Amino acid sequence: MAEDAILGFLESNVNISDSGQFAADVGIDHNEIINVIKSLHGFRLVDAQDIKREKWVLTDEGKSYTVAGSPEVQLFLAIPLEGISREELQKKVDSSVYKIGCAQAIKNKWVEMGKQLVSRKIQNVEDRVKDLLLRIRDGEVIDQEDIDALKRRKLIALQTWKGYSLQRGPNYAPKRKKAVTDLTRDHLQRGDWKDLEFKEYNFSAKGPPAEGGYLHPLLKVRKQVQNIFLQMGFEEMPTNNFVESSFWNFDALFQPQQHPARDSHDTFFLKVPSTTRELPEDYVERVKRVHEYGGYGSRGYGYDWKREEANKNLLRTHTTAVSSRMLYLLAQQKPFTPKKYFSIDRVFRNEAVDRTHLAEFHQIEGLVCDRGLTLGDLIGVLHDFFSRLGMSKLRFKPAYNPYTEPSMEIFSYHEGFKKWVEIGNSGMFRPEMLLPMGLPDDVRVIAWGLSLERPTMILYGIDNIRDLFGHKVDLNLIKRNPIFLRNKFQIRSAEMLCL
Ligand code: PHE
Repeated sequence: MAEDAILGFLESNVNISDSGQFAADVGIDHNEIINVIKSLHGFRLVDAQDIKREKWVLTDEGKSYTVAGSPEVQLFLAIPLEGISREELQKKVDSSVYKIGCAQAIKNKWVEMGKQLVSRKIQNVEDRVKDLLLRIRDGEVIDQEDIDALKRRKLIALQTWKGYSLQRGPNYAPKRKKAVTDLTRDHLQRGDWKDLEFKEYNFSAKGPPAEGGYLHPLLKVRKQVQNIFLQMGFEEMPTNNFVESSFWNFDALFQPQQHPARDSHDTFFLKVPSTTRELPEDYVERVKRVHEYGGYGSRGYGYDWKREEANKNLLRTHTTAVSSRMLYLLAQQKPFTPKKYFSIDRVFRNEAVDRTHLAEFHQIEGLVCDRGLTLGDLIGVLHDFFSRLGMSKLRFKPAYNPYTEPSMEIFSYHEGFKKWVEIGNSGMFRPEMLLPMGLPDDVRVIAWGLSLERPTMILYGIDNIRDLFGHKVDLNLIKRNPIFLRNKFQIRSAEMLCL
């Protein structure tokens, strides 16, 4: 083995002056010796210095003349003593031998090229060129003049030879200790860990290319919408509770207990735990009263409000449940401070699943809470928000929500379809919702909501929601999609949101 040979040799010798010579002496391929020297040098078992040597080697043409003789000699020998016509001579030798041979033989004054005949001028010639080539092949040193002549004829070329000279390094040992990578239980039990040499960590080693860590398209679009809200100075609401009580999801939002949306056809109710543990009692009392008798200038619904209904746990059907909790908390802080809130998270509805509907999806929700806000403020904020998504042509249509008055559906002009398409819902939260919370009389809340799935599907060219979301999603979809689509998103978002 090359490594044993080198380390063994250095045990009793000061150095190896020439790795080429050493390779020849021990009968191991020089390339193998070089590889081992590099490794030993890296671990400082030896110190190696480059050595470079230039030597002349034969070109293919030069090599062929060492066998067949130089072309001038081949040509000379092809000329009989009585001479030969040019045509005959040309037939006897290769065309390259004829061409080169004639030129050289004339230069050497070996032949006479007469009009009729080609004839020898001397009786015998020596093949000096062939002899010189053989001597170079065998590594002999020859005159510079001869070298120059052979180089001009491209029969030899200079080759750089690389090798090393080396001596023992600071970590020299006659045998390399194999560095251990892991400390094992056996090492500890046997106690031999004390003598082990551990391999150093290689902090600059490259890891394998990352295969995972791709973001799902919904997460990417969510990030983009999140950035828009943050740029507009909105704070994100904590949405980390999928389970909500009917109270915060419906009652606090002045949604009557007989409302069809509360029906188990639309809402998933929880079996365990089926009811909420606590609600703010005095606020519950005010909510009950506003449902039953109204107040704050309202007549209420005039029905018998039941606490058991409000206690029922469900999977939140909209993120407006989070908005109601946040506004209640805000109302408890004195003095009142204006707020801009947003959220983007999952909601659940007990709907028939088809190409565009799932029983769960994501809502984007924004609200502004401040004194004296008007419908004009809502329209202005919606223009600002949607134009950042690439939609600047908006129209509004009166609509109904139990918790907003007025309420407006939001439409955007779809350049591709050449028509107005619905993109979201909005409104001003009713006094029946805000005043029982304890917000000051002149505080108004403007709010809007839209789905995250729709823009994402259009952006990523997905026409079946089940290919985007749920247990049948192809993981390759996630890997295939570009990491960032912002420009495309902004250019195409008008289209996306409007399909
Ligand atoms: N919560 C409404 C929905 O689920 C959206 C909305 C939010 C409407 C805020 C008005 C105000 O569609």
